[in-house]
Amino acid sequence: MRKSIQKIQNFKKEGKKITVLTAYDFSTAKYIDAAGVDIILVGDSLAQVALGYDSTTDIGMDEMLVFTRAVSRGVKDALLVADMPFMSFQVDKVETMKNACKLIKAGANAVKMEGSSDFVIDNIKHLTQNGIPVMGHLGFTPMNVNTIGGNKVQGKDADKTINILKDALKLQSAGCFALVLELMPLQSSQFISQRLRIPTIGIGGGKFCDGQVLVSDDLLGKYDRFKPKFARQYSSLKDIIFNVAKAYCSDVENGVFPSIKESFVLDNEEIEKLENYK
Ligand code: KIV
Repeated sequence: MRKSIQKIQNFKKEGKKITVLTAYDFSTAKYIDAAGVDIILVGDSLAQVALGYDSTTDIGMDEMLVFTRAVSRGVKDALLVADMPFMSFQVDKVETMKNACKLIKAGANAVKMEGSSDFVIDNIKHLTQNGIPVMGHLGFTPMNVNTIGGNKVQGKDADKTINILKDALKLQSAGCFALVLELMPLQSSQFISQRLRIPTIGIGGGKFCDGQVLVSDDLLGKYDRFKPKFARQYSSLKDIIFNVAKAYCSDVENGVFPSIKESFVLDNEEIEKLENYK
């Protein structure tokens, strides 16, 4: 059974770090779920790492739904969160609710929304008061990259950190069950994490967050357009894929694939009939 929101929130009280990874397809979801990750996120980062778009703002609801359905089929034990894509919640309450419901019907247990403008907070309240769990996202918010002017560390001084805390408290009051803190000095995210009841999940936010999230393609070493400073690469899947594809091409070209063991074989009697066919 999938982990509940309450269970995830209790981890903070118990001092157990919360593990979060993104997934965009059925089999990756299945294996990271089996490995025991607490939350699987169908992040809109899939726009860049799985679909090759330049920005997360390029992905729409229809695409998010296809990937959420695929991931959901692979998830048994983790809580499944799906990102509300750009312009799916910067719209009126009715439209926001419709879009969130589509993701829930696609198999997500909760949705994630970036930012903390009054407008977004009203929409978050509308969802949480009507049974849709929401994870917030502050610090660097990739959807606002054009306003921010690049992937810049946020909360770089005490005043800015206090402002992010104020926003975080608003999101907590709006009913968010957890909060992603992206690209922040570790002391800033520690300051915020200590003052929130809900768990914080860091990405480039240092070790004092209540949990950590990484984009699975960064962890696996599959995406190479850029390598964030905060991402630890545990394998080099891109080299594995490259080497495997090369070995396959060479085996086909040299006639060593497929072998007899990898082929279906006719009985001798049938072979003889074919040989005697005029
Ligand atoms: O889209 C995403 O993958 C995210 C995280 C990595 C937090 O929002």
